[in-house]
Amino acid sequence: MKKQFLDLGKQPIANKFLKEKISNEYFYQLGVAFDTDTCLITQTEYVDPPLMFNDSYVYRGSMSKTMVEHFKNLSKQFINKSILEIGSNDGVFIKNWNPKNVVAVEPCKNFAIETRDLGYTTYPNFWTTELSNTIKEKHGHQDIIFSANCICHIPDLDDTFKAVENLLTDNGVFIFEDPSLAGMINNNSYDQIYDEHPHIFSVIALDNILKRNGLEIIQVENLTVHGGSNRIYAMKIGNGLIDPSVEKNKSYERILGLDKFETFVRFAEKVKQSKEDLLRLLTQCKSENKKVISYGATSKSTTIFNYCGIGTDLIQYITDTTPEKQGKLSPGVHIPIVSPDHAFDESVDYAYLGAWNFIEEIRKKENNYLNQGGKFITHVPVVQVV
Ligand code: TMP
Repeated sequence: MKKQFLDLGKQPIANKFLKEKISNEYFYQLGVAFDTDTCLITQTEYVDPPLMFNDSYVYRGSMSKTMVEHFKNLSKQFINKSILEIGSNDGVFIKNWNPKNVVAVEPCKNFAIETRDLGYTTYPNFWTTELSNTIKEKHGHQDIIFSANCICHIPDLDDTFKAVENLLTDNGVFIFEDPSLAGMINNNSYDQIYDEHPHIFSVIALDNILKRNGLEIIQVENLTVHGGSNRIYAMKIGNGLIDPSVEKNKSYERILGLDKFETFVRFAEKVKQSKEDLLRLLTQCKSENKKVISYGATSKSTTIFNYCGIGTDLIQYITDTTPEKQGKLSPGVHIPIVSPDHAFDESVDYAYLGAWNFIEEIRKKENNYLNQGGKFITHVPVVQVV
């Protein structure tokens, strides 16, 4: 049973950047709940996936050096293996592989075409049991099924895991990584919750849901990317040795209270406080005639700006390196997005870190800005100037 603990208000599609203001922009009510059966943190209602993932999807994994390096390093572990990737995006992971060893699945057709043109077999579909049957017939069972920042995008986890179980060899491993619930609670990063993240995973909840679909977690790796992620290794039940990292992560999560509804009631209070603090800081900057912009037109900042009601009155524009986002307006609150090449300079007093999860990469890149007295604002883990 789902018990709601947080209401993040009316939200638009987080990656739907607009060419111009429109009167019929799509909004949904973003409620967040604790599932008492599995301990899963999940939305009260899910946005229909084709509204988010279609041929005009703009998020490119390759836009961040951190993520390009991250996937390059991971690929080194699997030299000469063949792999199936669920949610291959612009090929940021599979580009490290020989095309003959890869089957990719990507429902955003613009990206599916891009990786197909590079020679990778790419199915332009959503991941379902039906698709896994088609792939099994054509390519056989798979030894490695990989997915990064995609499984938490899929509303129906039971079908997702059944589809994986159906396609794995008996000794096959399902490896997937997504932002972790522990990371979100420790960072108070409620902006991890938006339409594309219908769930935020704890190891406890994942193991519960995997097990009812014939899989179990055999290892957990804690990663620093995206503000704290977990890489989960799962196999068919009984077929793998269970590493101590599984129990270690579960007991840490129990210490954080991630298996208890009350923990999330307290989290919701902190979220409200964060909103008040951010609005107070931005209003103060405005009253001092400071120039405030936002750095990175992230899906996460869509949650923040729409929940807090932050528009062009408080943030003049957003810079983003993604060509497809430049020249457009941010979802819901319609802040213009521009290239940092022309707009991130010494005239900026404060830059709100929409891409706070890349803070180290950004600090290095924007050394000049910081040396000239420019400042960043973040809400993670508390609202502050850094
Ligand atoms: P994400 O937080 O959802 O991964 O999105 C990151 C966005 O931030 C993506 O649109 C690229 C943008 N970005 C910049 O504009 N400058 C940067 O230095 C970095 C690291 C990301």
